[in-house]
Amino acid sequence: MKNIAVFASGTGSNFINIYNGLKNNSINGEIKLLISNNSNCGAVLFAIKNNIEYKIINDFRFPIEKNKEYELVLNFYRIDLILLAGFMKKIPENIVRLYKNKILNIHPSLLPKYGGQGFYGMKVHEAVIDSKDKLSGATVHFVNEHYDKGAIVLQKSLNVLKSDTPESLSKRILKIEHSIYLEAVNLFCLDKIKIQY
Ligand code: GAR
Repeated sequence: MKNIAVFASGTGSNFINIYNGLKNNSINGEIKLLISNNSNCGAVLFAIKNNIEYKIINDFRFPIEKNKEYELVLNFYRIDLILLAGFMKKIPENIVRLYKNKILNIHPSLLPKYGGQGFYGMKVHEAVIDSKDKLSGATVHFVNEHYDKGAIVLQKSLNVLKSDTPESLSKRILKIEHSIYLEAVNLFCLDKIKIQY
């Protein structure tokens, strides 16, 4: 059984979907912990309601110690897999090194398009609409030291409609996110993801 930590800062729909998916399917993984920087976000409220352990890390005055705090917490829960699900802070380098090929992220575009610093959430969908792209979608990828540049695990596209607004596009892409993120977690838990360089 893989021990999973989810990092989330917002509504938490990806977190909630994975939590329910793990509960209702025979997937070889369990969410042990939620880490957030925002004690009022939907993800934390869901964790409280469902008795999921959570930890708020939002004090960045002492970056080295705080990096150590992530490390200690993740060690304590013997975490095998970290899932970023709308986490709005940069992952400290020590964590990226320690958990090489064990951190997944969901991104609401067809990476490498619309990735990198500044591209997150609705900003991605606004850029797709502004550029009049015909296709968009979502990507699950491993996290490395460069924003949105790690190896791609799964990607799924949809047609951008002429009538789409950033909001309507984001709603349809969120459905794709939920389905491919759970699928990627299942593959990871079955040790079926191989990275070849
Ligand atoms: C999701 O759309 C996710 O792809 C995006 O934040 C949203 C979080 O929604 N992440 C990024 O843009 C990362 N660069 P959620 O809180 O409902 O899961």
